[in-house]
Amino acid sequence: MNRKVTVVGGGNVGATLAQRLADKELADVVLIDIVEGMPQGKGLDIMEAAPVEGSDARVIGTNDYKDTAGSDVVVITAGIARKPGMSRDDLLNTNYKIVKECTEQALKHSPNAILMVVSNPLDAMCQVAYKVSGLPKHRVFGMAGVLDSARMRTFIAMELGVSVENTHAFVLGGHGDTMVPLPRYSTVSGIPITELMSPERVDAIVKRTASGGAEIVALLKTGSAYYAPSAGAVQMTEAIVKDHKRILPCAAWLEGEYGMKGLFLGVPCKLGRKGLEQVIEVDLTQDERAALAKSAEAVREPMRAVKL
Ligand SMILES: NC(=O)c1ccc[n+]([C@@H]2O[C@H](COP(=O)([O-])OP(=O)(O)OC[C@H]3O[C@@H](n4cnc5c(N)ncnc54)[C@H](O)[C@@H]3O)[C@@H](O)[C@H]2O)c1
Repeated sequence: MNRKVTVVGGGNVGATLAQRLADKELADVVLIDIVEGMPQGKGLDIMEAAPVEGSDARVIGTNDYKDTAGSDVVVITAGIARKPGMSRDDLLNTNYKIVKECTEQALKHSPNAILMVVSNPLDAMCQVAYKVSGLPKHRVFGMAGVLDSARMRTFIAMELGVSVENTHAFVLGGHGDTMVPLPRYSTVSGIPITELMSPERVDAIVKRTASGGAEIVALLKTGSAYYAPSAGAVQMTEAIVKDHKRILPCAAWLEGEYGMKGLFLGVPCKLGRKGLEQVIEVDLTQDERAALAKSAEAVREPMRAVKL
């Protein structure tokens, strides 16, 4: 194929992402990890599914960044994941070093790539990649909002017994407990969910969305979610490589939008060939603005320790 995507980190999220990208024939995929043999094994295994899946995408696994050369998109999923009792911020120091190294190595071989960060704590890791890479802001952003919105869409569909395809959800803010799901912008076929269910049920969905990651961590016990996160990263990658101009919630570097400056925060964005092509601003109520400000503070807090 004439498109190449590198997935850094061949663990649960990375390998599932590589599989989804290959199955959808979106690009040739390079899966890279520090563990010897593992990405090669997973890459070959995914390739061997290609005849059954009907995909001509090539997948290779490697420990050498030379194999990633000339990638159009680099998705960073490397790093440790949460275990029960941990917050995403507990991963900060370990993942800071990992994301820094992966960003430097990947860009050395793919200087024109768009960087999508998945590693947690998400908004802080986006800032690491942004500062370390020195790339313009439209080429560095993070995946979290698509996942958080997908969770909310799932809960809306479950509540109302409707197709997930009819649901849209709007989640702003940092990827953590302070995220800001916005019910009045969350709809079923254009109808705000506030018209379709009681305030108590809306509130329950908002709360379950905000703790959606922790719910999975508590059930799995050994790691965190990866099926829905990898699906989110695929949707964003597809929007880029196919120049879809899709409006998706992304962690974007803000310079005044939503009254915020100098941090990554989840906001609706237009994604296309150039990367994050536009931040879409919508009017917020006073309460929504206050909730977003609280979420921004929660994102800034861990970054103070890293001093980037
Ligand atoms: N943004 C989101 O919405 C979201 C959702 C789920 C998971 N995550 C995050 O994604 C990350 C990965 O999660 P996972 O479940 O795949 O974890 P995992 O432990 O299954 O995989 C992580 C992989 O990273 C590799 N790795 C470590 N250091 C590396 C380096 N320097 N270079 C290359 N690879 C390296 C490990 O060997 C491992 O294979 C975690 O930080 C997790 O918190 C984010």
